[in-house]
This record gives sequence, structure tokens and C-alpha cells, in this order.
Amino acid sequence: MRKILVTGGCGFIGSNFIRFMLNKRRDIMIVNLDKLTYSGNPANLRDVQSHPRYRFIKGDICDRAKVDRLTKGSWGIVNFSAETHVDRSIQNADVFLKTNILGAHTLLESARTNRVKRFLQISTDEVYGSLRRGEAGEGSPLRPNNPYSASKAAADGLVRSYFVTFCLPVLIARSSNNFGPFQFPEKVIPLFVTNLMEGKKVPLYGRGEHQRDWIFVLDNVRALELILHRGKIGEIYNVGQGHPISNLELTKKILKVCGAGEEFIRHVKDRPGHDFRYSLNVGKVRRLGFRPRFQLEEALRLTVDWYRQNKAWWRPLKKDVFTLK
Ligand SMILES: NC(=O)c1ccc[n+]([C@@H]2O[C@H](COP(=O)([O-])OP(=O)(O)OC[C@H]3O[C@@H](n4cnc5c(N)ncnc54)[C@H](O)[C@@H]3O)[C@@H](O)[C@H]2O)c1
Repeated sequence: MRKILVTGGCGFIGSNFIRFMLNKRRDIMIVNLDKLTYSGNPANLRDVQSHPRYRFIKGDICDRAKVDRLTKGSWGIVNFSAETHVDRSIQNADVFLKTNILGAHTLLESARTNRVKRFLQISTDEVYGSLRRGEAGEGSPLRPNNPYSASKAAADGLVRSYFVTFCLPVLIARSSNNFGPFQFPEKVIPLFVTNLMEGKKVPLYGRGEHQRDWIFVLDNVRALELILHRGKIGEIYNVGQGHPISNLELTKKILKVCGAGEEFIRHVKDRPGHDFRYSLNVGKVRRLGFRPRFQLEEALRLTVDWYRQNKAWWRPLKKDVFTLK
């Protein structure tokens, strides 16, 4: 039985990953270390909380003694834990640097001394910065433009350095924008969907021309499992659909699925330093065998249905939604 330490597993992507792994593989047990910040919610994993191959530990990835106790005997570490909301990082970046950089370093040191066999760092397409045209390949320069993406790029640099300097068996996955069940309702898709369910307008930054590549979280977690088990040690893998669309196009699709008209769009002042366009070359993960199964429209419908059926989950969280002043 392989023990895998998953950190940040009570968040959006981490919880979907844990559920997927427990269902897919019988040869693993998962220990989930999560600090339970505003975005970490044990209810995201209520259905597996008494699973025989799952254990939850509340704690901080910066706590070296606790991390060491959990890393001992672990085959792998998958690091999802992070502060993740760009707007919050613009307001105050302190905790982003602490968790996303120092926390990643604590995990790397613990992985090195306890000789783990795999260290998968969950990174983001935002580290490449804004691209006017073309696609970012895994070897493209990192040009982070906000404190969140800068902290993620710094962590990627540390992960790489542990491979080169200490031969730690690392992998990095850089995913595009995820959406789906259990996403905290301050991120754009669940914010818009839940606002519409409450009869409110959706706040669209600027004219909505910014472009993002969207991937359904259930596709992303399949790619992450593949990278963890079949990726080449020391390598980076981009994960996305490979089809960026503008925020306005996305908004119109959400409005359509929710049965609302364009009068529900409220244009708001653009975010400072807002990256105009992210676009990933996803050839490498495709060559590993990954193909997304969900088209954007179908995945949006599934997501809207989930938020419709889980009002008791998201309603109490709306009070913690952060808005940049
Ligand atoms: N959501 C996306 O679209 C997206 C895209 C690409 C990459 N990512 C990356 O994927 C990872 C997960 O993102 P998410 O959207 O699920 O985030 P999330 O905000 O939903 O979850 C983050 C989790 O980390 C936990 N956490 C925060 N600080 C911690 C600490 N110091 N110690 C232990 N746990 C801590 C939180 O409690 C929470 O459960 C992040 O590393 C993020 O950068 C996210």
C-alpha cells in the first residue's frame, strides 16, 4: 500500500483529487494535511471521511515537525495547499509568501530527508504571465505579474532546485483555470453562478476581453494522477484544454445555462495588473496519454446543476467572498 501525503486536500481541486484517487486506485492510502483556511472545508470530503484508506489531519504545511511525522513512510507528496485568490494577494501578499513559498520549502525539505519517491507540485499557468499571442510551453520564461503568481513561480523554482541539487524526484503540473463542484464561490464561475441563483448581477472585470483556458476539475485530477504515476521525474507538465476564450464569451455561456439575459452583466473596474491572456501548449501531457473528456458547455451545465443542488454548501460561504476595493 502506498501512502500519499496530500496537502490542501480540503480545498477545491485537492478534494476532487482525493475522491478520484480513492475511487480509482486500491493500492494507495491518503493522508490529507490541511490548515482549513477560509477556503478549506472538511465538508468537501464528507462522503469519504470514514473511508478506510483516508485520514484527515488539521495542520499547517509550514509546521516542520508535523510535516515530518506525516512524511515519514510516505511514498509521495502532492502539494495543493496554497493561498489562491489573486485579488486577495493584491490586498495583502504576506500569507501568500508564507504558505506558497516557505510552506513549499518545508515540504521539500521534509521530502528530501525522508526520501519520498514522488513530489508533485501543483502549479498554475499564471506563472507564464500574460501572452499577447501564441502558447506557453513548459520551457517558456516565467513572467508572473501579481503576488499570487509570483509566489507560485518562486515555489516552482524551489522545486526545480531540489531536483537539480538534491536529486529529489519532483514533478510540476501547471494547470489552467479549473472549475467544477466544491469551488469556493469567490472564483469567477461559482461567483457568477451563485449570484444568478440569488437574482444578483455578475461583476465582469473591464470589458471582459481577457482570455483564459478553462478545464473541468474532473479532467484536471485525471491528468494529475497520470503525471504523478507516469510523468518523467524532473519534468513540468502543462494541463489545460488548449482553447482560451474571453471572459465575456464565458459569461454569456454561464448566463445561457442559468437562463439569464445579458442585462445581468455589471461591468466593474479592471483588476490592477490584470493578465490579458493565458494560453498553454498542452502537447506534452497529451503525449503522456491525457485527453480531456468534458467540453466546456457540458461541464458548465454539470457545474451549474451541482451549485443548484448544493445551496446549503455555498450559501454560508458567500459572506467570506473577497472583493477588491
Ligand atoms: N483553482 C484553479 O483554477 C487553479 C488553477 C491552477 C492551479 N491551481 C493551484 O491548485 C492548488 C489548489 O487550488 P484550489 O483552487 O483548490 O485552492 P483552494 O483555495 O480551494 O484550496 C486551498 C487549500 O489549501 C489549504 N491551505 C492553505 N494554506 C495552507 C497551509 N499553510 N497549510 C495547509 N493547508 C493550507 C486551504 O485550507 C485549502 O483547503 C493551488 O496550489 C493553486 O495554486 C489552482
